[in-house]
Amino acid sequence: MIQVNGLIKDYGARRALDKISFDANQGEIVGFLGPNGAGKTTTMRILTGYMPPTDGTAIVAGYDVVEESLEVRKRVGYLPETVPLYTDMTAVDYLKFMADLRHIPDSEERAYETLEMVDLQDRATGYIGNFSKGMRQRIGLAQALIHRPEVLILDEPTIGLDPAQVVEIRNVIRDIGKDRTVLLSTHILSEAQQMCDRVLIINKGQIVAEDTPENLQSRLVGSQRVVLRVRGDSDGLPAKIQKVKGARDVESKPDGSVEFEFSTGQDVRPQVAKAVIQAGFDLLEMRPVGMSLEEIFLELTRDNASGKKSS
Ligand SMILES: Nc1ncnc2c1ncn2[C@@H]1O[C@H](COP(=O)(O)OP(=O)(O)O)[C@@H](O)[C@H]1O
Ligand SMILES: [Mg+2]
Repeated sequence: MIQVNGLIKDYGARRALDKISFDANQGEIVGFLGPNGAGKTTTMRILTGYMPPTDGTAIVAGYDVVEESLEVRKRVGYLPETVPLYTDMTAVDYLKFMADLRHIPDSEERAYETLEMVDLQDRATGYIGNFSKGMRQRIGLAQALIHRPEVLILDEPTIGLDPAQVVEIRNVIRDIGKDRTVLLSTHILSEAQQMCDRVLIINKGQIVAEDTPENLQSRLVGSQRVVLRVRGDSDGLPAKIQKVKGARDVESKPDGSVEFEFSTGQDVRPQVAKAVIQAGFDLLEMRPVGMSLEEIFLELTRDNASGKKSS
């Protein structure tokens, strides 16, 4: 269980976290979704007890990360952004070494059991230096699991992996997350949607939205943005589109194209096409614009109140 309340982190004059608050419960995989520089790693380092916040509190597995950081570290497994692995050790020796550091009895047996959890039991005596990026990431995960922590904090666990490796590590995380609290960060929207029970969207040190992947998805596809191109001058075109009922957020682009949005339940593209042609424009193109993560953030931050779960 993780309870975060009003976390602030300043790096000198720079505020990296600006009053972050959220909870994560046992058996829950919570996604921390945000672009680079949003504050994901900073939050995770505070939650693992490696760095104190400037202000605010965080209780992890029942202990305060500042007052009781040793207790927290006993109960938290951490996969950092870059895992320092000993490449000249075999998988089992490395994990036995990590188990010994934590004074775990029967450390070799524990090492083998942990390799099984990440599906690397067949490579126990292989040298980490010879492992693929995906296998190394699973060793990193094993290292985070060696003491069977009740809370797992995984910083971009799939970054740099190929699609097959991503699938493997996702399966492992889903499996080990069943009876633990997992907080994982990612900057990939689809990943958060596929892996997580709940998603927190963080942007510029603030949580701008919190919801289930399903709700986020329906909110994101709740409206469709369309780009429209005509031959020649598009002066006067936005005004024509504006008049079509259901077409909103009409915007002229510097390249002469015009964008607008409609609610998915109310597809006004035919009406817009008709209006454009009737106004004498030669319609060359009308196609949907995919919403990038950046645009989703803009969308979500535009009306902050409805961005948060209202219940
Ligand atoms: N050690 C540091 N010193 C100064 N600024 C930092 C440090 N670590 C991170 N930052 C800044 O804090 C912000 C959040 O960074 P970070 O937590 O690494 O974001 P994320 O993991 O989401 O990419 C960024 O603006 C980053 O430049
Ligand atoms: Mg990071």
